[in-house]
Amino acid sequence: MFRFASTKNLAIDLGNNNTLLTDQSALLFSQPSYMVVNELNNKVEAVGDQAYSMLEKMHSNLKPIKPLKGGVISDGESAKKMLKEMVSKIQKPSLFPKGFNYLISGVPYDTTPVEKRALRDALDQFSSRNTFLVHEPLAAALGLGLNIQEPEGKLVVDIGGGITEVVIISLSGIAAFQSTRTAGDTLDEEIQDYFRRTYNFSVGLKTAEHVKKEIGCVLSSIASKEEFFIAKGKDLMEGIPVSRKVSQSELTFVLEKPFQKIEECIRQSLEVCPPELASDIYRSGIYVTGGNAKLKGIKERLTKTFQLPVHIDLQPLLSVSKGISQILGAPQKHKAVLV
Ligand SMILES: Nc1ncnc2c1ncn2[C@@H]1O[C@H](COP(=O)(O)OP(=O)(O)OP(=O)(O)O)[C@@H](O)[C@H]1O
Ligand SMILES: [Mg+2]
Repeated sequence: MFRFASTKNLAIDLGNNNTLLTDQSALLFSQPSYMVVNELNNKVEAVGDQAYSMLEKMHSNLKPIKPLKGGVISDGESAKKMLKEMVSKIQKPSLFPKGFNYLISGVPYDTTPVEKRALRDALDQFSSRNTFLVHEPLAAALGLGLNIQEPEGKLVVDIGGGITEVVIISLSGIAAFQSTRTAGDTLDEEIQDYFRRTYNFSVGLKTAEHVKKEIGCVLSSIASKEEFFIAKGKDLMEGIPVSRKVSQSELTFVLEKPFQKIEECIRQSLEVCPPELASDIYRSGIYVTGGNAKLKGIKERLTKTFQLPVHIDLQPLLSVSKGISQILGAPQKHKAVLV
């Protein structure tokens, strides 16, 4: 989906898997962070939904590109091109294009100066008068409706596509932090690997992700043997297209190891948390966002592991963009979080 921007401000959530563009009041664009380039003339053939639908299906002249890896830009030039194409879709065509007044983009907290530079380079092409970055977990907390300015500590877990970030927020800052590159993409790769190792059955990453979204579950006691997905792929011995049935219980077993790593990351953040903030979190609990917060059983599983209240975001794909959009609406109020 996309709509034209009506204002001169723009918020960007350039995610590992999805890119969302917002102004201070509405979501304007939300599509996968992919691009297809024609290698013969270096032209961008497709971005977003269209590029995603072409993945793993194209011929040799067309090259699929995912400019982000592990939640950060891994291919600066492609990220720049992809953003340009995406932003052009929400701008009304004009003979005299004006720059943005405020341009604010999310960035993971765990980013190196070089990765931040790559993002700034990609943003500079829009010649905005005020360009800022905001750490994604802080934006997510705002998007979740939390008051991040008060001293009471809050623990936010963002399980995105490329990175899981766990932060303890107090007084508009990050008091403790842990991250792991074990996130959505890892879960998809684990499913793909499992099929290959166990059944000599090869599926694409899109199919693996589809299986996870449909029946993925992280708590064995509620996983059902009756709930299943029929995945289509290729038999590696025979070399022919086949389909295979996978049950929810089987999938829960596959997701166990990577999910334990995500839990370990939460545990470490609690370990380094100052005692006063720990007592706040004992009361307020854990807030979970990012697309993988939709996994079945996640609330019960984390409650059981940590013996704390767990709050799952009902719109986990939108939290970061909702947060940056709020900041756009009152940049002065939120200047403590602008980088
Ligand atoms: N229903 C669902 N069940 C499980 N996982 C889901 C579901 N819907 C989306 N996801 C997963 O959520 C992830 C995308 O979420 P999100 O858009 O928050 O990530 P991102 O912001 O692009 O990545 P990052 O934060 O790492 O940069 C993908 O791994 C996707 O497979
Ligand atoms: Mg994200």
